Amino acid sequence: SLKGIKSKGKLIMGTSADFPPNEFHVLLDGKDTIVGYDISIGKYIADKLGVELEIKDMEFNNLLGGLSTGMLDIVIAGMVNEPDRDANFTKSYDIDEIHKILIRKSDKDKFQSESDFNGAT
Ligand code: ARG
Repeated sequence: SLKGIKSKGKLIMGTSADFPPNEFHVLLDGKDTIVGYDISIGKYIADKLGVELEIKDMEFNNLLGGLSTGMLDIVIAGMVNEPDRDANFTKSYDIDEIHKILIRKSDKDKFQSESDFNGAT
């Protein structure tokens, strides 16, 4: 509950950090760190509530269980609302269909697929 989150002073977010760009591991100053836009969203919500964000990195398939037992307060994991997933889903926060990445028109033929970016300078 919101009261519970505020009284413990932290929002416990479940995710599965194997899903870039939503959530993934990087080395920052030699330290293993989980980053991605789902993490930014979690931080934003925690900030709004005035609490710390605690991230639990788990198996994707254990997230819903963690939520229903109360081990997790929230799941942000690029998860879509399938009928057999028993949880209270928000509306989509996914920006994929709205925001685009731009390249120069003159480079149009050079970059047709993801692999065309390998080694591109
Ligand atoms: N969107 C797919 C789903 O809802 C895959 C999500 C995988 N997410 C992850 N953090 N590994 O099932």
